[in-house]
Amino acid sequence: MSEPKDRSVTPSLGTEEGSGTASGKVIILGEHAVVHGCAAIAVSLGRGARARVRPLHQADSANTKEGVAHGDRITLSDQSVQGGEALLDALRAARAVFALGPVELELSLDLPAGSGLGASAALGGATARALAQLVGLTPHDPLVAQATDAWEEVFHGNASGVDRAAALGEGALLFIRGQAPIPLALRVPLQLVIAVAGPPASTKTMVESVMRLRQSNRIQFDKNLAALGALVDNAKICLRTGDLSSLGQLINLAQMVLAGWMLSTDSIELACRTARSAGALGAKLTGAGGGGCIVALSPSDAMSAKIESALSEQGFDTFSTEVGASPQATCEHHDHHE
Ligand code: MEV
Repeated sequence: MSEPKDRSVTPSLGTEEGSGTASGKVIILGEHAVVHGCAAIAVSLGRGARARVRPLHQADSANTKEGVAHGDRITLSDQSVQGGEALLDALRAARAVFALGPVELELSLDLPAGSGLGASAALGGATARALAQLVGLTPHDPLVAQATDAWEEVFHGNASGVDRAAALGEGALLFIRGQAPIPLALRVPLQLVIAVAGPPASTKTMVESVMRLRQSNRIQFDKNLAALGALVDNAKICLRTGDLSSLGQLINLAQMVLAGWMLSTDSIELACRTARSAGALGAKLTGAGGGGCIVALSPSDAMSAKIESALSEQGFDTFSTEVGASPQATCEHHDHHE
C-alpha cells in the first residue's frame, strides 16, 4: 500500500458535503484461501452502504449526543450498523488517508451486517468515497481504496482486500491479494440465492482460527489451499463458457473444504442441503463462515423463487440477485486465446 500523498487538504478546498455508495459482495469461491495468497472469485451486489460526510469544526464536535471520539460524530440511520468505538477508529483511519480533520458521518446499510456479505467494506468504501468527494477527488481515486483498506484494518486486522475490491467494483471479479482486481468474463448471467444461515460471526475470529489450523498442520493446510485454488481455476473456465452445472459442483466441493476448516455450522449445512434439494446447482457458505450467509447457484430465475421458498420454510431470510453476463470482460491475458 502506498503512503498517503503529502498534501494538506482542508475541507474548504472541496465541497462542504460529500456522499458515496459502495456495494456488498458475495464470494463465489476462495474465501480464507485468499488471505493466504490464493485467488478468489467475488461478485458485487446491487445493494450495500451509503455515506454522507460534512466537516466538523471544533465547536460542532463538542457536546454531541451521538458517538464522539477524536472529534468525529457518527449517525447511524439503522440499528443494524454497529461497531461503537471501532467505527470511530475506522473513520479516523479513513479520514487520515485524506489528511482530513473531524467530520460528521451519516451511514446507512442495506445488508445484514456481520453475515459474510461485506457490510464493513461497503460502509468503509461508501465513507471513503464521501470523504474523497469532500476533498474534490473522484470515487475511483486510488486514495479511496487506500482509505477503505485503512477502515477494514480496524475491523479485520488481516483483511485480504477482496471485500474492498468488490465494495468498490462491479460485476464478477478475480482477486489476488496485493494485486488489482480483474473483471471476469461471464458468458451467462449468474442467478444467486442468498440466505442468512446464522447469527453474525466475527471475520477476525474466523480468519484467526484458520490461521491456527495452518500453524498446527502446514502440510494438510497447503493441500486444502491448493484444492481451493484449483476450484477457482476451474470456475473461471465455467464462468467463461457458461457451464453452470460444473460451477455448482465446484461450489459444493468448496463447501466440503471449508467445513473441514471448521467454518461451517449445522445451520449452514441445513441451508445448503435445503437449497440443493430445491434445485440449486451448488451451495456453500460465503464470507468468513461460522454463521452468516450461504450462497446458492440457481439454474434460472424461476428456480431461484423455489429455492427461496424452500429456505424460507426452514426459517431462513433470503434474497436473490442476478449478476449480468459480461462476455466481453477479459479474465487474464492468456484467456484471450482460449
Ligand atoms: C471475508 O469476506 C473473506 C475472508 O477471506 C477474509 C478476507 O479475505 O479478508 C474470510
